[in-house]
Amino acid sequence: MPAEKSEELARGLAGVTVADTEMSFIDGEAGVLRYRGIPIEDLAENASYEEVVYLLRQGELPTATQLDEFKANLVKCCRTVPDEVIDAVRHFPSGAHPMAILRTAVSLLGLHDPGAEVETRTANEAKATQLMAGIPTLIALYERVRNGQEPVPPSQELGHAANFLYMLTGEDPNEVAVRAINTYLVLLADHGFNASTFTARTIASTESDMYSAITGAIGTLKGPLHGGANERVMKSLFEIESPDKAKAWVDQTLDKGQRIMGFGHRVYKTLDPRARILRQYAEALAEEPDVGKWVDVAIVVADAAEERLSAKGIWPNVDFYSAPVLYSAGIPVDQFTPIFVMSRVAGWTAHVLEQQADNRLIRPRAKYVGPREQPYVPMGERA
Ligand code: CMC
Repeated sequence: MPAEKSEELARGLAGVTVADTEMSFIDGEAGVLRYRGIPIEDLAENASYEEVVYLLRQGELPTATQLDEFKANLVKCCRTVPDEVIDAVRHFPSGAHPMAILRTAVSLLGLHDPGAEVETRTANEAKATQLMAGIPTLIALYERVRNGQEPVPPSQELGHAANFLYMLTGEDPNEVAVRAINTYLVLLADHGFNASTFTARTIASTESDMYSAITGAIGTLKGPLHGGANERVMKSLFEIESPDKAKAWVDQTLDKGQRIMGFGHRVYKTLDPRARILRQYAEALAEEPDVGKWVDVAIVVADAAEERLSAKGIWPNVDFYSAPVLYSAGIPVDQFTPIFVMSRVAGWTAHVLEQQADNRLIRPRAKYVGPREQPYVPMGERA
């Protein structure tokens, strides 16, 4: 009997374990997430994104000296992207989606990195740092260019979140927005074998290079069932318009058999711990003039949808409350998913390094369900 026939099918690879990882511990039944054993709640409250990148990559929290060195290296080596990349981005189509722009710009960054094909651990860590520091520059660059503004060169002093907001607006960012972005970046930095991380590891498993792995991961994150959900959530809130219309919208959407974006998760069958943190964050914004209304709409949607869906194990996921939080920090709605990239590149690159350290080609099978045998019919005899 052919091997395919005897195999059980796990649609969408649900429940299939394919590798060891030391990065994220996730308990989907209890709603627990820890990076290298440290609770996400403690990291969200206390850590900078740079600290979390170091933790994921090196396996332990940095000392003050190590963190200073890591941050200084980020600023010195990698925040500025090559002029050729800036020129190319200026000529990208102005109506393209920022995720398509970022996917292409990251690939281009690889073309202009002379070390792109050097496959040592040191060279791959350098590429990881280049990607982490360069991606915010690329996102801000396109935002400025498509609005007819000159790019703002990166700051040599500001931290990761603050520098990004500075490059986006050209102004000194306010503390509240910096904290919102930093917390978001910390919360989304890694999450087990999600689809985009799996893509990055699959590409790395063929012994392809770091830039190819991250370019592929960006393409995977773009989809609305994965990272693209945050943008869709904000669009839903706009469509609903006001809190008094939110419950009816939830009922109509579910009665039509449609999905509520920002709800449901392959792993969490209870409230996503990151969503719990971001809900508290969003609630604190309820009094803010331009954001409060959308927070109110989101809370009514969340409560009404939970009432109907939680018995099926469907709860708000991290993307649901991300939407009003990113909006509050002044991020354009179609740039929400690129900000997810800006965070998740930490996990992707650390996973690529982990894959490279103990590699085996990732190559599952498909169960063939087409006809087993049929003759080749010459063109003239086809119906
Ligand atoms: N709204 C309403 N019903 C839902 C939703 C939702 N958002 N998600 C799942 N369901 C229902 C689905 O209709 C199905 O019902 P039934 O058994 O009656 O046919 C059941 O739940 C199981 O759905 P599934 O598609 O088999 O579940 P999955 O594990 O394959 O999908 C998911 C997970 C995240 C793709 C899905 O929940 C979804 O489409 N959510 C909306 C998009 C979204 O928010 N994505 C972000 C995911 S978390 C962050 C990230 O990874 O980027």
